[in-house]
Amino acid sequence: MVFAKISQVAHYAPDQVISNDDLAEIMDTSDEWISSRTGILRRHISRAEMTSDLATEVAKRLLEKSKLSAEDLDFIIVATITPDSLMPSTAARVQANIGASRAFAFDLTAACSGFVFALSTAEKYISSGMYQRGIVIGSETLSKVLDWSDRSTSVLFGDGAGGVLLEVSDQKTFLAENLYTDGSRGNSLESCYLGLSSPYSDEVSDRKYLTMDGRAVFDFAIRDVTKSIQKIIADASMEAEEIDYFLLHQANDRMLDKMSKKLGVSREKIPANMMEYGNTSAASIPILLSECVENHRIKMDGSQKILLTGFGGGLTWGTLLVTI
Ligand code: ACO
Repeated sequence: MVFAKISQVAHYAPDQVISNDDLAEIMDTSDEWISSRTGILRRHISRAEMTSDLATEVAKRLLEKSKLSAEDLDFIIVATITPDSLMPSTAARVQANIGASRAFAFDLTAACSGFVFALSTAEKYISSGMYQRGIVIGSETLSKVLDWSDRSTSVLFGDGAGGVLLEVSDQKTFLAENLYTDGSRGNSLESCYLGLSSPYSDEVSDRKYLTMDGRAVFDFAIRDVTKSIQKIIADASMEAEEIDYFLLHQANDRMLDKMSKKLGVSREKIPANMMEYGNTSAASIPILLSECVENHRIKMDGSQKILLTGFGGGLTWGTLLVTI
């Protein structure tokens, strides 16, 4: 049997940092409102780098850290809702930028669950025995789809990228997963609607900017996502205490507080970094994972059990339980 394992992690964010006070200079908001309701203190906002540039930097870091060449890669998957273009894909741009000539590459769209869905897909490629090595990156420049005149959404998001190298292993490290979509609730989070536009169609206006029903999304995370985490732990015949860290999508620290209470898990085990990044959608979990490795919480020695849980637009949500 062939299995897959996460063998390297990396992240990257644009160097421009915008604080809550900076935002208060251009809109009617305050550090007090933003930080008390969300935990967010600042976010990285790209000046010139596109989503593919952030993802390329992550890919280069993954290769450098693992001492591999781009030619060693079989595939590249980029999870994003802010691609440079629909065609070519962001992943194809990364493939060209790093010269991974053997790798097939494509983007996957599942909003804030994108990284978890993409990692699940990649794991199947490797464990099929057909491919040996690939990279999975979550990369976003959400700043370009925000309505900067809407204080209720623009303060919540940021730009960044994170990713992992996935390789063959003789040990089973992906222990369980559950993935969900409920398209019937999709209109609570929307962005970049591409309306029809031809000489033969009725006129439909494009709606580029991100819109959100904050309360509905908050309730969805607390109710449905927490339930799915409880289910995956039960299905794996484990107790929550046996999980070393719960790496949950970084949207709102108050949300994580509530989820921690419902799960009966201490906040020590639910790290947060939205203070520094805001919500980076598909990038949030791999950035957090990479930071947890950098600060030695996650040792990457095969001894820890980690939950990776994404949730967001679609609606989509899903969890992978892995040994790292
Ligand atoms: N600064 C100041 N005031 C603001 C701001 C702001 N940036 N944004 C909204 N307000 C005002 C509103 O106009 C409203 O004023 P009103 O009562 O006079 O009409 C008031 O604040 C609303 O305040 P609250 O009801 O306290 O807002 P709430 O507690 O619902 O918090 C928030 C809003 C933070 C968006 C919350 O609903 C939330 O976190 N939801 C989860 C959604 C989320 O995090 N989405 C991220 C994307 S989805 C995902 O990643 C899963």
